[in-house]
Amino acid sequence: MYPLCPWVQGPAAQTPSADLPNCRNWSSVGEERGAALRLTVNGEVHEVPCNPMDPLLGVLRDQLGLTAAKLACGRGECGACTVLIDDRPRMSCITPAGVAGDVVTLEGLAEESSDLRGEFADRGAFQCGFCTPGLVVHATALLRRGLPDDPGERRAAVRHSLNGNVCRCTGYQAIVEAVCVTAERRAADRSAGPAPAAGAAS
Ligand code: FES
Ligand code: FES
Repeated sequence: MYPLCPWVQGPAAQTPSADLPNCRNWSSVGEERGAALRLTVNGEVHEVPCNPMDPLLGVLRDQLGLTAAKLACGRGECGACTVLIDDRPRMSCITPAGVAGDVVTLEGLAEESSDLRGEFADRGAFQCGFCTPGLVVHATALLRRGLPDDPGERRAAVRHSLNGNVCRCTGYQAIVEAVCVTAERRAADRSAGPAPAAGAAS
């Protein structure tokens, strides 16, 4: 059976344990060891006291205060912790901080994902919202890469690409719709070209 996330299981499951690391014991490990790791996150270089094997998610959330990426399964199965590493979606709960390259979190994609997030909101593509940051990060990477023009192929590509991001609430239809509509609108905007300058002769 798929393990429920600690928030769904309740307070007992949220206690730090040796079996299932969570952000509290991750960050304390780094602080105890006192080592400094240089990390580039959202274009800024940080010196973070942590062990290179500490999960990146804990470093982002507890030491850098970047809390958009979420801890759910903690074992690389749900995508709630997705961030971009060197422009590729990666699950930060199973990525050692020491091997992370250029990291971008949802906080760093706020402007780029603004239209996509608007579509999520307008279409009710979230309920509890726990999966949403990971989905938006992953979909942002997908939109950068480009999607097929054919609506059926586009929908299939989105469904396939986002299949590692688990949502327990929505049934996925509105999520796929939000990504497809955003792709369509961006493609239309690109083909329309830049808006004419104000006062330009007609
Ligand atoms: S928290 Fe589920 S994959 Fe990272
Ligand atoms: S898990 Fe609740 S909105 Fe996706």
